[in-house]
Amino acid sequence: MSDKYVLFTQDITMRFGGLNALDSVTIGLKKGELLAVVGPNGAGKTTFFNVVSGIYKPTSGTVWLKGKEITQKPPFLIARNGMVRTFQNLGIYDNLTVIESVCVAMHRKFLKNNLMKTLKGFLVPWDTNKPEAMTILEFIGGFKGIENELCINLPYGFQKYLEIARSLAMGPEVLLLDEPAAGLNQSEKTEISRIIKKIVSSGVSVMLIEHDIKMVSNISDRIVVLDYGKQIADGVPKDVICDPKVISAYIGKPVTSAEIEAGSGGCDPVTVSVQTGQAASADE
Ligand SMILES: Nc1ncnc2c1ncn2[C@@H]1O[C@H](COP(=O)(O)OP(=O)(O)OP(=O)(O)O)[C@@H](O)[C@H]1O
Ligand SMILES: [Mg+2]
Repeated sequence: MSDKYVLFTQDITMRFGGLNALDSVTIGLKKGELLAVVGPNGAGKTTFFNVVSGIYKPTSGTVWLKGKEITQKPPFLIARNGMVRTFQNLGIYDNLTVIESVCVAMHRKFLKNNLMKTLKGFLVPWDTNKPEAMTILEFIGGFKGIENELCINLPYGFQKYLEIARSLAMGPEVLLLDEPAAGLNQSEKTEISRIIKKIVSSGVSVMLIEHDIKMVSNISDRIVVLDYGKQIADGVPKDVICDPKVISAYIGKPVTSAEIEAGSGGCDPVTVSVQTGQAASADE
């Protein structure tokens, strides 16, 4: 494994009874890269995140974070070592305000794994983190004037942006985003694309699970495609979306450059050879 990878998995297999949810998956995330992981429902994308973030122990295979093996490490230790993830379902605290929910997420990074240190962590008032939490919300953008709103009152799109803000509060070097754009409309997808690109520009390496192939083609440096737990493609967007294996397993029909541009809502389009025919949406 070379130094250029901040996260690397070698031959990860995850078996549930007779089902191979992941079958010898080898994926490397380069420093400063935005890597998308796509594939049909049940392809193994979330399982892959669960394995690399320590929630599942793989049946076989190895995971390295910043050159250190983390395969058997617990999730809290992996998070403290710089890899943070979001979940497919929103984990927002309804009864907290926006700023409080970011402070709580930030507070977690001070908690330690032995009792005395944990108690000490709890004794630090959570709102000492408010200025840093405000900086994160300003970085994400759009929260000015609604920092003291209850999370439950936020529009769904803002709840998704807030979830990303909360993941940044943990200070990640590697960020795993599981379908951050699920359920969003086109303008919200444009906004979340902007936020993700800004995070990558700030130096965080990002792995993104997303079903909108136009969106991922637009913003990602590279795309890995999983199908029935197997890696069927790994390359730059313009090659992957034209790969017949990917079209047949997932996309359905070729995606045109015009559709990618339109789908992105204004991000820099990737250069792809224009195909005829209507693209099928890979949205859920
Ligand atoms: N804890 C588990 N026990 C048994 N089977 C599981 C478990 N977790 C995942 N699976 C199975 O593994 C396969 C891959 O699931 P996974 O959730 O990783 O898919 P996915 O690619 O994230 O799909 P989606 O796009 O719908 O989110 C599925 O067949 C799923 O039912
Ligand atoms: Mg999933």
